[in-house]
Amino acid sequence: MERTAVLERFDVRRIRKDFPILTRTVNGKPLVYLDNGATTQKPQQVIDAIVNYYTQLNSNVHRGVHHLSQLATDAFEVTRRKLQPFIHAAHEHEIILTKGTTESINLVASCYGKAFISAGDEIIISAMEHHSNIVPWQIVCEERGALLKVVPINDAGELDMEMYRSMLNDRTRLVAITYVSNALGTINPVKTIIELAHAAGAPVLLDAAQAIQHLTIDVQELDVDFLVFSGHKMYGPTGIGVLYGKEKWLNAMPPYQSGGEMIKEVTFAQTTYNELPFKFEAGTPNIEAGICLGHAIDYINDIGMAAIAQYEHELLDYTTQRLLDIPGLRIIGTAKEKSSVVSFLLDGAHPYDVGVILDKLGVAVRTGHHCTQPLMDRYGIPGTVRASIAMYNTKEDIDILVAGVEKAAAMLL
Ligand SMILES: Cc1ncc(COP(=O)(O)O)c(C=O)c1O
Repeated sequence: MERTAVLERFDVRRIRKDFPILTRTVNGKPLVYLDNGATTQKPQQVIDAIVNYYTQLNSNVHRGVHHLSQLATDAFEVTRRKLQPFIHAAHEHEIILTKGTTESINLVASCYGKAFISAGDEIIISAMEHHSNIVPWQIVCEERGALLKVVPINDAGELDMEMYRSMLNDRTRLVAITYVSNALGTINPVKTIIELAHAAGAPVLLDAAQAIQHLTIDVQELDVDFLVFSGHKMYGPTGIGVLYGKEKWLNAMPPYQSGGEMIKEVTFAQTTYNELPFKFEAGTPNIEAGICLGHAIDYINDIGMAAIAQYEHELLDYTTQRLLDIPGLRIIGTAKEKSSVVSFLLDGAHPYDVGVILDKLGVAVRTGHHCTQPLMDRYGIPGTVRASIAMYNTKEDIDILVAGVEKAAAMLL
């Protein structure tokens, strides 16, 4: 479809009506919510589903023959059924429901680490990772005597692919890289990253926390081994997330946590484990969030990921151009391929002070290191101001942001 046709069809006014929080004021000003990288707002459809769960369905899953338990179990499993085509997984049982991206990465670090990583092995991450895709690997390396290698980036915030190539060898046991950088907005060349890793015999984990709500993802086409993301960044509830893993890896890994649900049979002498996906889902899950994530997926599907991606891309270009017109403003992260995030600094002003002035104007942005301290060190800065956009943001939101930054510049510089 022609790009212009998609843009004309994208009815952001109608979409905004689905998000009740967008009508509130902050500090006496209409809310301009540009902190979507941290978490997105929720549409009425998801909010209604939460209320419906507690008023009509509440019951534990996978445990009862009684009517409510069956209804809750069915509704919970429907989400898994929706997630499979959403990321184009080959099997439903390759979808493990977790608390979120952080737990999904910790699960892989712990279980894959126990099964496949030993002294002298190597794990590759990148200089732009979120702390949750750094620290679990540091811990695994420490525990198992492995070496953590870090792919550097150029000043634009793009991975040094030559260095990456040179780091891969027959000791590489895993590559764990972010799909989209939460602090820079860089979209990494994940297809090539995966092909090169596989050629060296290493599987790849993609942190899709900042990609899943902006890009169409096909795990089979990518041939990715693990993909992780959070529900709350894709218009769904907090407390629910996903670990996609290829069946062969999940079957070869030991369980993560132990208790109810993950077992087949327990005696005091021995326990056998449940099959996928339940082997990795010990205990009562976040049932309400699991069910309502399915409604968030319906919401995204109804609008269409291709249309969302094109609209957001257009808005990102507009944001970048408008901000660059402000004297003394510097954008951190100028990769050729970018999604949804503009990080910037006003030379001579602390990001925190800019954030406080914007907040007074009703504009919600993130300031600080964005859980990427090593990345901030790479640029020699304490942090940035980050505007991150979602499908409900408008050019008017960006105009208010720009006016606010101009005001901050006049006050602080
Ligand atoms: C790239 C990236 N990875 C991981 C995370 C952690 O996500 P969560 O806090 O939902 O587990 C985030 C959250 O901001 C992120 O942006």
